[in-house]
Amino acid sequence: MSSMMDWRNEAAPAWERPHIGAHPIEGFRYTSPEFFHREFESVWTKVWLLLGREAEMPEPGDWQREEVGPESILMVRQVDGSIKAFYNVCQHRGNRLVFEENGHVKRFVCKYHGWAYMPDGTLNFAQDSEDFPQGNPCDHVRLKEIACETFAGFVWVNMDPEAGTLKDYLGPVWEDWSMYPIDRMRRYLAYTVKVPCNWKVIQDNFNESYHLRAVHPEASVTIEEGYKDTQFDMCAEGHSRMIMHAGYPARSLEGDKLRKPLMALMEEWELDPEDFRGKERQIRPAIQQQKRKLGEAKGFDYFDDLRDEQLTDYYHYTIFPNFAVSVTNDGFHFLRSRPDPHDPEKCIFDNWHYAFDPEGETRPAATPAGMRERGVDVPHEVFDYGDKSVGLGIDQDLSITSGQQLGFRSRGFEGVYLSGQEARIRRYHEVIDEYLQGIRPHGRLNVKPSPVRPIGTPK
Ligand code: FES
Ligand SMILES: [Fe+2]
Repeated sequence: MSSMMDWRNEAAPAWERPHIGAHPIEGFRYTSPEFFHREFESVWTKVWLLLGREAEMPEPGDWQREEVGPESILMVRQVDGSIKAFYNVCQHRGNRLVFEENGHVKRFVCKYHGWAYMPDGTLNFAQDSEDFPQGNPCDHVRLKEIACETFAGFVWVNMDPEAGTLKDYLGPVWEDWSMYPIDRMRRYLAYTVKVPCNWKVIQDNFNESYHLRAVHPEASVTIEEGYKDTQFDMCAEGHSRMIMHAGYPARSLEGDKLRKPLMALMEEWELDPEDFRGKERQIRPAIQQQKRKLGEAKGFDYFDDLRDEQLTDYYHYTIFPNFAVSVTNDGFHFLRSRPDPHDPEKCIFDNWHYAFDPEGETRPAATPAGMRERGVDVPHEVFDYGDKSVGLGIDQDLSITSGQQLGFRSRGFEGVYLSGQEARIRRYHEVIDEYLQGIRPHGRLNVKPSPVRPIGTPK
């Protein structure tokens, strides 16, 4: 535990702020099949994508499948403990190898002519192998492998044969996430929803907090100052970060407006809300102090590695191109969109939640409501938008997306008109364009990597 003045008392150092231009963001970016196709070829096949979870394939031969637009990717645990990724396609005549979400194999056997591949991708059996004029397929053919790395307990893949390292790709995000035990967090929620909007509509939404007051009036992250309390960061690698203060009531305690989750949080950390009537601004530092004091005994063995503000605030990231996540002191709220295989006006949206729950600790239900009652390592559910609630906050976000998609089709829409606090959206679209122009990933323009300050060093 640390009570002295040190780096923990300070706000996170700002990232270097790249120049942001002012070119328009028009509706066709969300509706045009031609633009959609260019994006897939120039962006999606050139970036690191967070796709799998290590803990879900512990044994050699365990595998997971995930779709990325028209591609299907297999991630397979190897005998040496590493994970390899392959395109899910038989090299004989192109059949998909598996359609299930996950499983365990000794060999992947193609259902068409029975070719069998080992978990390391080598072809182990081909019927009538002597009948191939080019030679035995087992000597010439293997599954097509894709760059694959693991970080924070997740499996990341990159379809670019010249991919650089994941660490270079993530830039300052790597250092930030290394502070948390994300690899030890477990899944409490896993909803995959087919939503009638372009995949960027989802990412744009999670790139700003300007909508909180209108869409999430009950959110505790904003008080009167709103965005002025928020730290916005962007890095040369194309990712961004938004640090939103939390631990504030939406309004004053007068009239009992203190929202229930904050009340529950205070009680969990042995604070009496009544002591803060008229002093609501003191709740946030009080929660931080309590967590410093009681965290270790409650099983949070990593709180000493976090800044004070990390004990209460939302560190919200957009990892280019499709992954938004709110990282809190005990949770990782995973928000990912992926394109439909063919239709620019549809996407696949994942609202998953991982959390750190110390053994034996019983804690009140956290956001999303009732998450802990559902238990840990929950099954993955897939459904269409509207069939089922995905939790209050995300239902609120999704309720906007289909209407916005309709607006993007209108000839009456001439492009966005953004506020300063929405600058991350502008930047995000510029990065997409830099991929489309071939400037990224390998850079005809010299994109300078962000300086990363080691944790604990003075400014
Ligand atoms: S297509 Fe797979 S064995 Fe023929
Ligand atoms: Fe939202």
